[in-house]
Order: sequence, then C-alpha cells, then structure tokens
Amino acid sequence: MQRLILALPGNEPFADRLAAACGGARGRIQTRRFPDGESYVRLLDEVAGRTVDLVCTLAHPDGQLAMLLFAADCARELGAAQVNLVAPYLAYMRQDARFHPGEAVSSRTFARVLSAHFDALVTVDPHLHRHPALDAVYTIPATALHAAPLPADWIAGNVARPLIVGPDEESGQWAGAVAARIGAPCVVLRKTRHGDREVDIAPADLGRYRGHTPVLVDDIASSGHTLLAAGRLLREQGLERPECVVVHALADADAHAALCRVFTRFTSTDSVPHPSNRIGLAPLVARALAGAGHGPATE
Ligand code: R5P
Repeated sequence: MQRLILALPGNEPFADRLAAACGGARGRIQTRRFPDGESYVRLLDEVAGRTVDLVCTLAHPDGQLAMLLFAADCARELGAAQVNLVAPYLAYMRQDARFHPGEAVSSRTFARVLSAHFDALVTVDPHLHRHPALDAVYTIPATALHAAPLPADWIAGNVARPLIVGPDEESGQWAGAVAARIGAPCVVLRKTRHGDREVDIAPADLGRYRGHTPVLVDDIASSGHTLLAAGRLLREQGLERPECVVVHALADADAHAALCRVFTRFTSTDSVPHPSNRIGLAPLVARALAGAGHGPATE
C-alpha cells in the first residue's frame, strides 16, 4: 500500500502537491469543533500497517496542537506502522533560551510534546540559533531541510544584479547560503530588538552597491517589522527599491500590506499558505520522505 498523506485543516493544497510529488495516497480526515471549541478528529481511511504522514504547518500552533495530537494518536491506535509529522514551518523555535528570569523555554516543551506523539518529523529551515540542531530538543528522528537553493534560484531567475541582504545576524545563515549559490554579494545588517514590534537596524554604508537590486532574505516574516526597518534603511542608502524573499511568511494581512508598500515584491515559499507564495517546497519534502527513517513509500 502507498504511504497515506493526511492534511490537517488548511494544509490540503500542500498535501495534494506532496502526494503528487512522492506518489503517496491522499487520505481523508474529518475534523470539526464541538460547540464549546474542543476538537473532533476522525480518520476515514484504513491506516493499519501503513506509513501515515500528517501534514500540518504550525503557523498557528496553539489552535492546531490538540487536533494534531489526536490525529497522531488515533493513527497509532488503529495500527499505523509509522506516524510522521510533516510541518513545513515548525513553531516555537525562537524561544530557545530563558532570555529573562522566569521565562518558559517553549521550544523545549513543544519538542517534548511532539516527540512523544510522532515517530519522525520533517520540517524546513527551523529557526536554529541557540539550539545547534533539532536533535538538541527533539528525541525522534527530525529532519531539517534547507530551502535556500530554491529562493536562490528564484532570485537568480527574477532579479537583475541582486545584492543579498540579511536584516540581522540570525538571518546570516540564510542570506549567506543564498548568496553563495548564485554568486551574489552579501551584506548582513545588525538588529536590536526592543519589543515584539520595535526593532532598530544599525546604519550601514552600502553606497558601493548602487546599481544592484537589494534582496532582503530571512527565514521568517512575523510582524514584518524586522524586514520593514531593513527595507527603509536600504531606501535611505539610495539603493534600488528592494525585493524581499523569506522562507516562512507568517505575516498577517496588515503586515503583508505594509511589506508590499516597501518592497517591489514580497515573496515566500509555500511552507505557510500566504498570498506571497511563489516558491514550492513539496518536491524537497517529498525527497526527504523517500529517505531513511520516514517509512517506505509502499508496504
Ligand atoms: C528572528 O531572528 C527571525 O530571523 C526573524 O527576523 C524574526 O522572527 C522576524 O520577526 P518580525 O517579522 O516580527 O520582526
């Protein structure tokens, strides 16, 4: 039997693309909320003996987690041979330290919960900064795929004379990988965060890059303020109107509108469904599922 690919609500289009890319069967899962808000899950296909991939990008983890865990446990109780989580965006990776006394290190707790319910995890560009790798917090086989070649190739095909710009030190790994692949110059700016929506980007002299098109590259756009501040700094330097490419677009409608005012295009991968999606990740994820540790394609 083919592996069974099940989509949690909102993940159906990605699951369709993933099934097409890996030759898996698209299974059916029924979900709803009871009047009091509790979650209901029912698996509508036979899972016994099969590899089951639950697709759930975790852009809204607090509202998604219960349903996801119920589906995973249900598949296991009904005899699935292996239950994998495919989360193109993995939440709670940025709270990777106790920055202030008394804070919860949510990345560790979240990892413990998912590790207890799944056999393996596949994700794309998790925010690894103070945790050196997923296995520092996940106790199941956890694959962190690197999307950088895909945004890099999109930039090479769509932007003339790009200058790759990372808005802060944490973005350096993504900006550097993109720039290296396409042989573009790369600059990484310095950010100070004062609050969820208050960031400063240190002035930088970028005058020698006039004639290039700056492309801000980051892993995540959330409130969008990091990229907006960096975009404004680039404009102040007299550079061309910038482009922006991120892996995970969490930006809500207001943040997206603000980003579209500053950038020629705000572009993202489809790790999170978003109007800015232009770069598809399903083939990358499909190749990972075919690899070791994620169950055979057919049983
Ligand atoms: C953190 O360092 C990440 O790389 C992003 O820069 C950050 O998550 C973006 O957040 P926001 O869009 O809210 O500024």
